[in-house]
Amino acid sequence: MSESQSVQVFPPPADFAAQATISGMDAYRALCAEAEQDYEGYWARLAREHVTWKQPFTQTLDESNAPFFKWFADGKLNVSHNCIDRNIEAGLGDKTAIIFEADGGEVTHVSYKELLVRVSRFANALKAQGVKKGDRVVIYLPMSIEGIVAMQACARIGATHSVVFGGFSAQSLRDRINDAGAVLLITSDGQCRGGKALPLKPIADEALAMGGCESIKKVVVWQRTGAACAMTEGRDIFWQDFVAGQADYCEPEWVEAEHPLFLLYTSGSTGKPKGVQHSSGGYLLHAILTMKWTFDLKANDVFWCTADIGWVTGHTYITYGPLACGGTEIVFEGVPTYPDAGRFWKMIQDHKVSIFYTAPTAIRSLIKAADTNAAVHPKSFDLSSLRLLGSVGEPINPAAWSWYHDNVGGGRCPIVDTFWQTETGGHMITPLPGVTPLVPGSCTLPFPGIQAAIVDETGTELDWGKGGILVVKRPWPSMIRTIWNDPDRFQTSYYPADFNGKLYLAGDGATRDAETGYFTITGRIDDVLNVSGHRMGTMEIESALVSHPLVAEAAVVGRPDDLTGEAICAFVVLKGERPEGDAAKKVIKELQDHVGKLIGPIAKPKDIRFGENLPKTRSGKIMRRLLRSLAKGEEVTQDTSTLENPAILAQLSHTAG
Ligand code: PRX
Repeated sequence: MSESQSVQVFPPPADFAAQATISGMDAYRALCAEAEQDYEGYWARLAREHVTWKQPFTQTLDESNAPFFKWFADGKLNVSHNCIDRNIEAGLGDKTAIIFEADGGEVTHVSYKELLVRVSRFANALKAQGVKKGDRVVIYLPMSIEGIVAMQACARIGATHSVVFGGFSAQSLRDRINDAGAVLLITSDGQCRGGKALPLKPIADEALAMGGCESIKKVVVWQRTGAACAMTEGRDIFWQDFVAGQADYCEPEWVEAEHPLFLLYTSGSTGKPKGVQHSSGGYLLHAILTMKWTFDLKANDVFWCTADIGWVTGHTYITYGPLACGGTEIVFEGVPTYPDAGRFWKMIQDHKVSIFYTAPTAIRSLIKAADTNAAVHPKSFDLSSLRLLGSVGEPINPAAWSWYHDNVGGGRCPIVDTFWQTETGGHMITPLPGVTPLVPGSCTLPFPGIQAAIVDETGTELDWGKGGILVVKRPWPSMIRTIWNDPDRFQTSYYPADFNGKLYLAGDGATRDAETGYFTITGRIDDVLNVSGHRMGTMEIESALVSHPLVAEAAVVGRPDDLTGEAICAFVVLKGERPEGDAAKKVIKELQDHVGKLIGPIAKPKDIRFGENLPKTRSGKIMRRLLRSLAKGEEVTQDTSTLENPAILAQLSHTAG
């Protein structure tokens, strides 16, 4: 299907709109108007209606120390209490909270009552270990019930968790533990993915041995694969021994609304990954509201978000949002292509999933598989339980959108293309399924109360029809509070002086349709790449490359990729001679492995090119725009007259070997 088709509009199906929590454009506009007229009153009303407070708040928004905003600051609550106890109190104790499907297909159901016991025992064990409110706990676990239990247990005792994605390297884990000053690490012997058992504890051991992790007093090891793993006497303890003898109930620690629920490290345009700090009250409110309004979650829904708990999507739409709404959710350990590329569709069929939320990269890879094998085509499965689809993490191209809509959603299900970020805590710009006419490729309109806008370099708001810089004009409850250990970086990254420190800078470019005002995200405007929906800084990859003894200099850019959205392309100058042929291939492999080892496999450059030099301006700045053209295989149209050695352009125009 061609991408250049005329724009098609998909109004909300009448039967969906008729039952939707927010039904129709009038209802949407009424909410937006309420927020416009009384911004604080709007959020205060919602926070009172949707969150259960131990101590009600009297203050809504505190802007006295902007941009370090506070929401509901004198209120007290416990996030785990909101996610578990209040559902049990509402009579949902026996309802299934989690349907876990393992890589190999085994299924486990966990009710809200059972979840309370598991979370309480682990929380009590943490307390017995001396972990207390405000301590940081790093979680390095695969997708599992235990991962959710560990996060909820931290929330229950007021410890601040920091989950590190199981695909990150020892060095990345070490850096995060070090920056967070964590007191305890929770990991597993290994993880099961695609029929293989992969090690995790050895990577954790390597991280801890690197130095800089002396704050860690205990390592809790969940035995997932049963692989033999070395245990350090006095430091390491198996999960079952850790929780043995602990009571089935743990009284929640009532924390202030601003208490840091978690840190989650993400890439920025410069330097090392930053620890995005989220609050308890405001974050929870937005997790709940977006579950109810964007996903229209109802009592009988079976909700499935395919993200990993190592990313923000897994935090908000696996660990917290669905549970805080008393929902039933799927938690999946494996990969979409094992045992074959029909796995997602089979699971939707088996568990009667009604709301399905995934990333465009996954959709694109499954389209490819379905095109060549009818047995794994969604049409070979009964997907009639689905009523709503979602997309997240990267722009969804119209062809993938249409395939998803027609083949997975059977043409019946709206698609919510949700734009948001680690820093925003939850959806920012998204259709509401009973409200918004959909246009493939557009994330449409702001969530009610979110004041998104497009501005030029001076911070002046642009008329619809123009493209510019995406900003948010007012603070919102689930926003990032600061960068852990680096408040200055928080201020300069998100509230830059260019905009008088008044506008939240998302880091993305966007356009607004001249007639509808619909937003379309055009991609990052900084040096952040988005590969398969995973966010990476070019500087991080460059630092990894230059740390290799053979490398003198490196520059990394992204280039469009049909499958992964963007692909990493590295331009490298070696200390020795520029290699060619097989010698070049060998070095490429070595550098890819080196980056994989330092950051994680997701950061391996797909394309590595060698030059005797890099194209630079007279002042010595690398001409990145030119590199982007080269990476794409485009003809170089930029002025290259200042280049010292124009011959390097030919060298850099193709992959060596
Ligand atoms: O560039 C945008 C892109 O992903 C970035 C945020 O990445 P991360 O913090 O890892 O969070 C991903 C999951 C929320 C954004 O700055 N992005 C996210 N969602 C969309 C998107 N780009 C286009 N459309 C989306 N729906």
